[in-house]
Amino acid sequence: MFRFLRYVSVVSIAIVVAACPFGIAGDGVLHCYLTWQGDTSTTMTVNYHAAPGHGPSVVYYDTAPRGGDLNAYQFEVTGSSHRIPVLELLAGAQRDVHVVELTGLEPGTAYYFVAGSTETGFTDEKMFRTIPANGAVNFVTGGDMGTGDVVRDLLSHAAIQSPYFGLIGGDVAYADGEARQWREWEQWLDNWESEMVTPEGYSVPMILAIGNHETRGGFGQFVAPKAAAPFYFGYFAQHGSGLEFGRRAYFDRWIGSAVRLFVLDTGHVTPLNGAQKTWLERELAATPADVLTLAVYHVPMYPSHRNFAPPSVSALVRNAWRPAFDACSLTAAFENHDHTQKRTKRLKNDVPDPNGTLYIGDGCFGRSPREGNQAIALEDPTELANLGLSESYLAAWDSRRHFWSVDIAADATSIDFQAIDESGTVFDTYTLVP
Ligand SMILES: [Fe+2]
Repeated sequence: MFRFLRYVSVVSIAIVVAACPFGIAGDGVLHCYLTWQGDTSTTMTVNYHAAPGHGPSVVYYDTAPRGGDLNAYQFEVTGSSHRIPVLELLAGAQRDVHVVELTGLEPGTAYYFVAGSTETGFTDEKMFRTIPANGAVNFVTGGDMGTGDVVRDLLSHAAIQSPYFGLIGGDVAYADGEARQWREWEQWLDNWESEMVTPEGYSVPMILAIGNHETRGGFGQFVAPKAAAPFYFGYFAQHGSGLEFGRRAYFDRWIGSAVRLFVLDTGHVTPLNGAQKTWLERELAATPADVLTLAVYHVPMYPSHRNFAPPSVSALVRNAWRPAFDACSLTAAFENHDHTQKRTKRLKNDVPDPNGTLYIGDGCFGRSPREGNQAIALEDPTELANLGLSESYLAAWDSRRHFWSVDIAADATSIDFQAIDESGTVFDTYTLVP
């Protein structure tokens, strides 16, 4: 019996050591990627993962390349680290998640940095750039990704656009908030870090909305959000820092002085109504009329695959937020979840309006495309009448993997939208003049 137990424990240790990517060396930076917790022109947050228990969280940086020579960098900043409790139990998954925020940066400026500590070692030198003050930027957006090979193809075409950031509308790695699916995030982060580097060499920061596949249970996880979505909150410093603080799944970002982006939660860990809606209404109303307003969230108000009509989640989202969007003439909303491509007419109160909101989607940045069931239904006069609509809200739709490339002109005088597929082909375009 004892011989058997001893055999089991030796085998277990062997499995643990083999499964742990840094268990033997005891050091090394595992992942390094960029988010924002605040101003996109003057701050940047470096997130990195390293073996547990190793040293402080440090980033050395400068406006000129220093080749990783720590003594040569002009600036050094220290952050903090945290652990995700459920990962502590899984062989190979344990790590410290380090968060280091760089502040006081110059807008529209390139920076060179290394992250780590003398105990873990440092990353190779990486580059990023801050958002220009006038908001003349381009970015890429989409949702419903996963970790398949086609995601790498899409990301490589996205990086060629030289985006200032990637805006992800939920359903990112498809780990469903389950700790045992931590390897999905390993692959997703590997894909992002290797592919999302622009031709000039800039690592592309990310802004992430939450989707049902970030969350154990998918919807309605209001009681213990951080336990239901441990990776979304634990891996990405966006609103708050560390796991012990009030990390929130809805927040806003100014993109220069001319564009304000609202990141929203379509009922995954935050109720649609209540504090989120109150905050959204207040902040939209307080935004000057000449500022472009954008929103990103997971479940579409104007679906191309799933049902438009109640009791769909789409109808719930419309009921909650559409009045606020309409009241301020929200410029554009990025929608996901349906695994199709779609572009709506400019809409107010569900009908075309020259000053209405453009809804862009529909979340097919890697997952298998679905048929446009609702889009097809909208072409049938009887179905339209059943939905209480006089005409289809859609201007274009396709069953095709893609991401959207979005170009905002200086001082936000116009926005160009391009849908680009996995072969790099542009297959839908639209220019919006606010
Ligand atoms: Fe989804």
